[in-house]
Amino acid sequence: MIEELVYDPTPYELELPLGLPEMVIPEDNPLTKEGVALGRKLFYEKRLSGDNTMSCASCHNQALGFTDNGKAVSTGIDGVAGNRNAMQLINLGYGFSFFWDGRSKSLEDQAIEPVPNPIEMHESWPNAMDKLQADDEYPSLFYKAFGTDEIDSNLVAKAIAQFERTLISGNSPADAFVNNTADLSSSARLGFIIYTTEKGDCFHCHPVSNGLYTDNLFRNNGLDETSLDSGLAAVTKDPNDLGKFKVPTLRNIAQTAPYMHDGRFETLEEVIEHYNEGGHASATIDPLMKHVGTGLNLAPQEKQNLLDFLNSLTDEEFLNNEDFSDPNL
Ligand code: HEC
Ligand code: HEC
Repeated sequence: MIEELVYDPTPYELELPLGLPEMVIPEDNPLTKEGVALGRKLFYEKRLSGDNTMSCASCHNQALGFTDNGKAVSTGIDGVAGNRNAMQLINLGYGFSFFWDGRSKSLEDQAIEPVPNPIEMHESWPNAMDKLQADDEYPSLFYKAFGTDEIDSNLVAKAIAQFERTLISGNSPADAFVNNTADLSSSARLGFIIYTTEKGDCFHCHPVSNGLYTDNLFRNNGLDETSLDSGLAAVTKDPNDLGKFKVPTLRNIAQTAPYMHDGRFETLEEVIEHYNEGGHASATIDPLMKHVGTGLNLAPQEKQNLLDFLNSLTDEEFLNNEDFSDPNL
């Protein structure tokens, strides 16, 4: 059977919504229809876990911006809880380092980690590969995507990374407003002004101008005087990086509660209150947290305006896109 298969993958053309930049695709992993389809199947594949109960999607639920079902921190197959909040998987193809502490430098590197992680999928790669290799379909799907039916972890990671690069969100009401194709409510419009001016000061770290609502850098936004989690410093070993975490995108932010690297805030109201109070000073607090000690002093109505703008970043097309859902359903 396999001998009759042809390796002739079809290039996958990304459709970028207005306002999103070109995406740089790594030369050694071009997007193909076959690769993306395989990556999607693998993203929902429970046999990648030790007891065949958990897939990537178990902790990254599309309807919630690919976050973990309202959990502050994620729990793996053995019931052991980690100490971090599952991150949204949105516009990842524009990122250049991954995880809250930036320890992975590519999506391909990142996708290798959850399988052997003892508090996540807890399966050895050789076992996981054996299961896929013994399957009726997978060997031919790998052949069609990569020209070999010998499955290995790097090809799994490549396919998943291809799928992840297609998870693009840019069709929210806020986008229509920024692109001048539709209006927002007057309250959300006022919220947009607060967001994009010194009054609320959100736009420096979560920019509108690049279409991403994150600068993809690592910053300390004043959550703690002394951070329990060292964040970026655990990777760089530089004390100047203590308490710095990846700036998350605010796209679909209404769907991704709870918030921050440890899921400490249950609601967006609490997040807004954190910034309104100005945050906690520390040696590594970001210079762009300019209101430490004084606070933003937003009136209750202005907090509501800001909340209404954040809610306008919900992209129903993304959350319900059938190309991103479980292909086995
Ligand atoms: C047990 C729950 C769980 C499972 C299963 C899981 N993840 Fe995650 N994911 C997380 C958590 C928690 C984080 C943040 C961890 C950290 O920063 O240390 C994360 C972070 C990520 C990120 C980083 C996003 C960014 O913006 O930097 C990507 C990408 C990702 N996961 C993809 C995957 C893929 C692909 C799989 C399957 C191979 C997977 N995850 C399986 C919980 C999970
Ligand atoms: C100095 C840069 C900076 C500024 C200014 C800033 N943020 Fe953030 N924001 C961050 C960082 C860094 C995180 C992640 C922190 C963490 O988890 O430790 C974050 C997290 C968030 C989150 C949680 C996202 C998630 O997925 O958990 C929301 C919501 C948020 N910010 C909204 C805002 C709003 C609204 C403003 C303006 C009032 C603002 N931010 C201003 C850097 C900033």
